[in-house]
Amino acid sequence: MICLLTALVVVFSAFISSVPPTVYCRYEPNWDSLDKRPLPLWYDEVKFGIFIHWGVFSVPAFGSEWFWYSWRHNKAKAYVDFMKKNYPPGFTYADFASQFTAEFYDPDHWADIFEASGAKYIVLTSKHHEGFTNWPSNVSFNWNSMQVGPKRDLVGELATAIRKKKDIHFGLYHSLFEWFNPLYLKDKANNFTTRYFPVDKSIPELYEIVNSYKPEVIWSDGDAGDWRYWKSPEFIAWLYNDSPVKDTVVTNDRWGGVSCKHGDFWTCHDRFNPGHVLPHKWENCMTIDRGSWGYRRNTNLNTYLNTGELISTLVETVSCGGNLLMNVGPTHDGRIIPIFEERLRQVGQWLKVNGEAIYGTKPWSHQNDTVTKHVWYTSKKNSAGSIDVYAITLEWPTTAVMQLGAVTATTQTQVTLLGYPKPIKYRQDAKGLLIGIPFIPINAMPCEWGWTFKLTNLKNQYNY
Ligand SMILES: *[C@@H]1O[C@H](CO)[C@@H](O)[C@H](O)[C@H]1NC(C)=O
Ligand SMILES: *[C@@H]1O[C@H](CO)[C@@H](O)[C@H](O)[C@H]1NC(C)=O
Repeated sequence: MICLLTALVVVFSAFISSVPPTVYCRYEPNWDSLDKRPLPLWYDEVKFGIFIHWGVFSVPAFGSEWFWYSWRHNKAKAYVDFMKKNYPPGFTYADFASQFTAEFYDPDHWADIFEASGAKYIVLTSKHHEGFTNWPSNVSFNWNSMQVGPKRDLVGELATAIRKKKDIHFGLYHSLFEWFNPLYLKDKANNFTTRYFPVDKSIPELYEIVNSYKPEVIWSDGDAGDWRYWKSPEFIAWLYNDSPVKDTVVTNDRWGGVSCKHGDFWTCHDRFNPGHVLPHKWENCMTIDRGSWGYRRNTNLNTYLNTGELISTLVETVSCGGNLLMNVGPTHDGRIIPIFEERLRQVGQWLKVNGEAIYGTKPWSHQNDTVTKHVWYTSKKNSAGSIDVYAITLEWPTTAVMQLGAVTATTQTQVTLLGYPKPIKYRQDAKGLLIGIPFIPINAMPCEWGWTFKLTNLKNQYNY
């Protein structure tokens, strides 16, 4: 980072103390410099986002979004048989594109569902490993959503719809590599000593999507190979210094062998959920359909995580300092199927009651309780400057008293249950805080799936 503190400003501000000295900082295209950038505040506060995998793979909607690769490269039997049985000989993957019709795609309706879920950011695949761009890219001739299939700018339409919701940030996923792109294969054959593919395709695409759609998340993926091949630090330095989103954009760690090392937030690997705090901001990206990111028809109910499992994942992730990015796969014709919609709306229902214990929180000294299982902690500074601690239990206690071993009360401590009007009785003894579990008729329960006890003025506040 190069910071130029102009002498003029320093001299000037010495006389007028209300003018802070302006520091001009520029990041250099190397990881040391890029790592010095502070994380834009919004990203840690929002905690919960929706990931959307949508592309030509949504047409066969079979197996997973890796359909093309499984069929053509791995020649996996299930895929080869599927094609033999259902498509004429000579049918190519490219032929699926014209069936990517998106006739029911209503981005405002999608935005309504995402808003109802309580998510505060969304990340849409602008291009997956198949190379098809969901926007009219100048470098993806005849393999983009304006020229083939939908005949629409899928990315731009969603950006517009999301921006009507004041509270949701718009982000884009982008795959650096493409399985079968001839330029990429040529570089690969040259042992990546040539850079035809990044120069002519991937890097121009990144500039296009940032300049055209101003995403606040660049979620990079498909980072096969080395960051020197992709020249990732050069792009990220531009993103931080000069791009139209330089002040608010965040990016992940999939830039060519730097996973879990560099980037504004670490994703490490898919479904990363370490169960403890990390020394860096991280994100757990996961799918509601356990086995696929893209929509697939050959799945079944048991394969979908239920709402309780989703809430548990959210709570564990946030307790440990992560964000949760929960994936849905829309259909080729542009629908978010009712089971995804129901899951999202139910998570939102839960967040309506318990959002105080999620949004804007920080990890506490303990992530889960030392005695009682399935209790996870978050914390937040209140307006009086002390720390409120939230104990979220993922199972409604079956005993009259719930023991919290990690917590020590003071005479000032108050215990409440979010969404429940009456104060909660408690007692402190050597074993911890003993919470009297109220008897609540089932139809008067504040919520399902997880319940939050808010604890104020604890002795062990853990200041950060
Ligand atoms: C494609 O190129 C045209 C002409 O240079 C330009 O106006 C347009 O913004 C470009 N599209 C994208 C997505 O960058
Ligand atoms: C708390 O979490 C840790 C790590 O995930 C686990 O090993 C431990 O058993 C948990 N404690 C309880 C009481 O469940």
